[in-house]
Amino acid sequence: MSATPDATGTEATASGWHPLCRSADLRAGAEAVPFEVRWRGHVCRAFAVRYRGGVYGYLNRCSHVGLELDWQPNRFFDLTGQWLVCAAHGALFDPASGRCVAGPGRGPLQAIEMREADGWVYWRSRYDLQPV
Ligand code: FES
Repeated sequence: MSATPDATGTEATASGWHPLCRSADLRAGAEAVPFEVRWRGHVCRAFAVRYRGGVYGYLNRCSHVGLELDWQPNRFFDLTGQWLVCAAHGALFDPASGRCVAGPGRGPLQAIEMREADGWVYWRSRYDLQPV
């Protein structure tokens, strides 16, 4: 078992990449891995999912009226496993792009850049998205 990458290390700080979880913690069709971010000054929930081998991250904030999407804690996929579904009014989103494909969504989900390296998953901060 390898040690947790140092989230405050020089490399992470300089590049904006923050360790989230082990790659094995994100499995297709399983629960998402939740995390918190400061988005535009407000603490928001976010989540990461695995889909078709890739890792994708989004703010847990629907583009319809800003409610959290999960229909059970950390469950975002619909029964087909193909779409992210908002529990409030049923908007469907493409897991790979965040694009709204059906329902009342008003645009895509707010994407968070993700990457995997050495068995770990990282998310990337930016000017409007910071660690809590
Ligand atoms: S808040 Fe998500 S569909 Fe309405």
